[in-house]
Amino acid sequence: MATIIGAVTTSHIPAIANAMANKLEETPYWKPFFDGYPPVRKWLNEKKPDVIVLFYNDHGLEFFIDKKPTFAIGVADEYHNSDEGWGIATIPPVTGESELSWHIANSLVEDGFDMTICQEMKVDHGLTVPLSLMWPGNDYGHVKVIPVCINCEQHPMPQPKRCYALGQAIGKAIESFDSDMTVAIFGTGGLSHQLDGEAAGTLNRKFDLECMDKLVACPEELTQYSNLDLVKIGGAQTVELNMWIAMRGVLRGKVTELHCNYHAPISNTGAGLLLLEHEMPE
Ligand code: DHB
Ligand code: FE
Repeated sequence: MATIIGAVTTSHIPAIANAMANKLEETPYWKPFFDGYPPVRKWLNEKKPDVIVLFYNDHGLEFFIDKKPTFAIGVADEYHNSDEGWGIATIPPVTGESELSWHIANSLVEDGFDMTICQEMKVDHGLTVPLSLMWPGNDYGHVKVIPVCINCEQHPMPQPKRCYALGQAIGKAIESFDSDMTVAIFGTGGLSHQLDGEAAGTLNRKFDLECMDKLVACPEELTQYSNLDLVKIGGAQTVELNMWIAMRGVLRGKVTELHCNYHAPISNTGAGLLLLEHEMPE
């Protein structure tokens, strides 16, 4: 049985990659954000998970608005980034884990989650910025990553309670994989933000902090929100909270918060970071 050792959630704002490429981490604007990360990097370097199952949303790179899977999973051996802008250097490819990916995909479809299964898939900042943040210098090639993509761009989008259920089904699938692998779960995106329209720049610090608390102690309360509630409370892209909720669905038993950081705004977004462990019931 593969072992789920814990979880990390982080915002995935593209400007973070630019800040790292240009060594801006210690500047007054960025310092309160980057100061949150060393404890999470230390945990990852000590625990050395073999695999990361990473919930993210594709902002239009692989899945544009003409074709939008509700839920997709990558089953490839390697993934390439070809994300937008900033003129920064190309980053290295991301290593996949095909066998566990297929196991999860089969298990999910059996459990009623009709996944889009991707044997080839470009990955955007939703997946790569968190990896660059956790392994500075883009030194993430040794970790195998399984991308799980949730539609947060084009209505109709899966609701928070469905994303939580997806996480639970993925937890069950990982635990039924016959291997001594260790697995960490990443949820990326959020927290509150709105990038476009008249309300661009909206965010909600109070809500973000409440979400981080509830995610640890009572995640079911977050599943009571609809996507429309999230849009009204924190702005259109607050729906990215669904990746955090999916992450939390994977964890079981007593969940402990090892580390938390919040800083807003970074670019347009309430930037949150959590490191969680769980005590698996027997
Ligand atoms: C920003 C945030 C996002 O989640 C994203 O996907 C793109 C940009 C931002 O705040 O700039
Ligand atoms: Fe985003």
